[in-house]
Amino acid sequence: MDKFVINGGRPLQGDIYISGAKNSVVALLPATLLLDVPVIIENVPDIKDVEICMTILRHLGADIQPVGPGAYRIDCAAVKDHAVPERQARAMRASYYFLGALLGRCRRGIAAMPGGCHIGERPIDQHLLAFEALGAKVHLPMRYNEKGEQEVDAVELTCNDLVGDKEIVFNVVSVGATMNGILAAVKAKGTTVLVNCAREPHIVDLANFLMFMGAHIKGAGTSKIIIEGVERLDGGIIPGSDEIRTYPVVPDQIEAGTYMVAAAATRGDLRIHGVIPQHLKVISDKLTEIGVTVEEVEDKDDVYIHVYTEPGKRFRATNIRTEPYPGFPTDMQPQLAALLVLSNGQSNINEQIWEDRFRYAAELAKMGANINTTRDGAIVFGVDKLHGANVNACDLRAGAAMIIAGLTAEGRTEIAEIGYIERGYEHIVDKLRAVGADISRQTFPDET
Ligand code: EPZ
Repeated sequence: MDKFVINGGRPLQGDIYISGAKNSVVALLPATLLLDVPVIIENVPDIKDVEICMTILRHLGADIQPVGPGAYRIDCAAVKDHAVPERQARAMRASYYFLGALLGRCRRGIAAMPGGCHIGERPIDQHLLAFEALGAKVHLPMRYNEKGEQEVDAVELTCNDLVGDKEIVFNVVSVGATMNGILAAVKAKGTTVLVNCAREPHIVDLANFLMFMGAHIKGAGTSKIIIEGVERLDGGIIPGSDEIRTYPVVPDQIEAGTYMVAAAATRGDLRIHGVIPQHLKVISDKLTEIGVTVEEVEDKDDVYIHVYTEPGKRFRATNIRTEPYPGFPTDMQPQLAALLVLSNGQSNINEQIWEDRFRYAAELAKMGANINTTRDGAIVFGVDKLHGANVNACDLRAGAAMIIAGLTAEGRTEIAEIGYIERGYEHIVDKLRAVGADISRQTFPDET
């Protein structure tokens, strides 16, 4: 069994560089299925979810060649298959983006129900609403799960033609459904208007990527996105030459936010590079409110975020309510909680997106935190300090919270189930060690 082992109590100091966004690249890679020419994508993080996406693409027939650090030339010309391999489909949430992309490319697609972090019910009715509105027939084969209950096993999509020329109104604001709506509509006939869309930076990144390749999309980053269908997406070749164009993945807002909180919690002094400060505003504002110094620094051609805290200073307690972008991100809620457990007073956390995103509370309690969970939230009573313990990463961001807690705690923390963390954070151990953390990845005999 592999674990992260942390000896806490060292402030993070120095410079750290942010990778491409997980939640963007997992949509950009399936989106390459829609392209009529090759493309180079760079700033691709070396994380498990990318490996899974690439396995799926290769299985479908894509040619993927590394062309530099974090850069891949992807050519989907030979793709004939329309069935996502089952194991990879079930291994991550974002496998559902292959459905939208395959529908756009082949007018059909099949994938097992997606897996991913256990953070509550994760329905896909809004994705199906968009596919059906564009003309797809949806078939949902059922199966019995290990509890003997019937559940949807897979999604099968077919259509003769994808036809936009309509307004599709989402009933809930969903990142995944907005992305899938865009993927399915870019090559549909006519103009599709998506209403009540999510506005996260990764949605803008997907739209920018597709526009870079020749799609006609307006309004990404607002709640109304207008897509005028095109027949070909062949903008990847520089006109008049054979040179293939390169698209960089947007910086990871949540990775940056995680290191901002880690810097603050350890009373460190960190310069966080390769970020888009506007994407971090709500996180910067929250940290500032509790007494952390956050500065946006422009230095020649570099813009970075400088986070520091006076040694020994207690943080002020605060309240958080998670909301779709530009509100406070649910994907930062566990990490901020790992800092608020050390604040002065009572903080209230209200989780609006996922109903089961507080499993980290019991793990933090093993380290001395005082948290009461409620139906849709948690009340955090600040304590003076945490102590090291053996804990689990219950999901990706809960795992990040365990790392932050371990870095602040007195003594040794062992974090199990680190596979969740490695799905989303590129080289996290190396990055933290480079700024002074005592953290290592170790293999232990399996517990029986
Ligand atoms: C994306 O998940 C992210 N995953 C999640 O990241 C993130 O927590 C979430 O957006 C919210 O920001 C990826 O991008 C791969 P949603 P997604 O559809 O798209 C309800 C992380 O740690 N809903 O925006 O699955 C749903 O139940 C993670 O990186 C429906 O009701 O989230 C939830 O309450 C985990 N019907 C809300 O909408 C649907 O068809 C938002 O979900 C779809 C969603």
